[in-house]
Amino acid sequence: MVTVGRAIRPSSQATVRTLALWSPLAKDSGASARQVSKMETILEKGSEGEKSRVRNGKTRIDKAYKRIKNVERRTMLIEEAKYNLETKSLFDANNVILENKLGCKLFHGDFRDVAQQKIPDNSVDLIFTDPPYDKESLSIYADLAKMANRVLKDGGSLVTYISQYALPDILDQIRSNGNDLHYWWEVCIALEGPFARHWQRQVVVKWKGLLWFVKGNRPQLPDYLSDLVFSQRADKILHSWQQGSAEADHVIKILTVENQTVLDPFLGAGTTAVSAIKHQRRFIGIDTDPKALSSVRANMKLNLASAE
Ligand SMILES: C[S@@+](CC[C@H](N)C(=O)[O-])C[C@H]1O[C@@H](n2cnc3c(N)ncnc32)[C@H](O)[C@@H]1O
Repeated sequence: MVTVGRAIRPSSQATVRTLALWSPLAKDSGASARQVSKMETILEKGSEGEKSRVRNGKTRIDKAYKRIKNVERRTMLIEEAKYNLETKSLFDANNVILENKLGCKLFHGDFRDVAQQKIPDNSVDLIFTDPPYDKESLSIYADLAKMANRVLKDGGSLVTYISQYALPDILDQIRSNGNDLHYWWEVCIALEGPFARHWQRQVVVKWKGLLWFVKGNRPQLPDYLSDLVFSQRADKILHSWQQGSAEADHVIKILTVENQTVLDPFLGAGTTAVSAIKHQRRFIGIDTDPKALSSVRANMKLNLASAE
């Protein structure tokens, strides 16, 4: 049984004390005490670059402050997770990962090598993943499809995030290997905002796409999947590309059943890992970045408070 943990909240008493300290100066300068105290944090803890961007008006005080707080929180979570008994057994000293009682295997390395060595043919029920989608990385979708074609069971699914700007290229890449993956549907993830802007295409981005491919003729399960998910913004403290969890929950629950295997070859902060484990699925995750693996550990500690 897995229960969902509670996020750690900053101490409001400390905030009240800091604000009291700064209110005379704030009164004098016409700024609010909160802004003055944020400025103090930036001066004390910000990098030289950050300070100069704030001084030159290139970064707003709120933004710089939030960035500093996020780094602090990420560091704290990673440190805390080191001592977490429930998830400790997942990691050895170098974050090269082992199997644990949750049926979860995490690997450090390039997914092309790791999958070849560690994942047998026709053994995975669902790949739910989020590859990098800058222009230079798009060929990675061809390698992803090649691997998916080998490791997925018949009727298994590949569900991948895409960026709309690259949709035709991504489709070409996924189809380039002459594989047995069939395009099935696109799922729309309605975003919560604030919304990013794609400057080159002049679009305010209010939704994201998930492309769904099926190996063979039909998905293995008969259930209907709604093609619209309302997502909540991830705080991105653990990973700058961290996704919301609603879409992983939504897809994993419908396209797999308990004890089936979910794979994410681009783990990041492990949003897919947490969702799979929460729903009692077996999970395999891979990432090239050792820092991402530390984030996964922190994410598990935060969101899977107890696991038997
Ligand atoms: C967009 S992020 C994934 C974010 C994740 N969905 C989350 O919610 O946190 C992509 C991840 O893929 C990893 N990555 C990039 N190329 C890789 C490769 N060839 N093999 C394995 N991981 C890779 C990066 O280190 C990064 O952590």
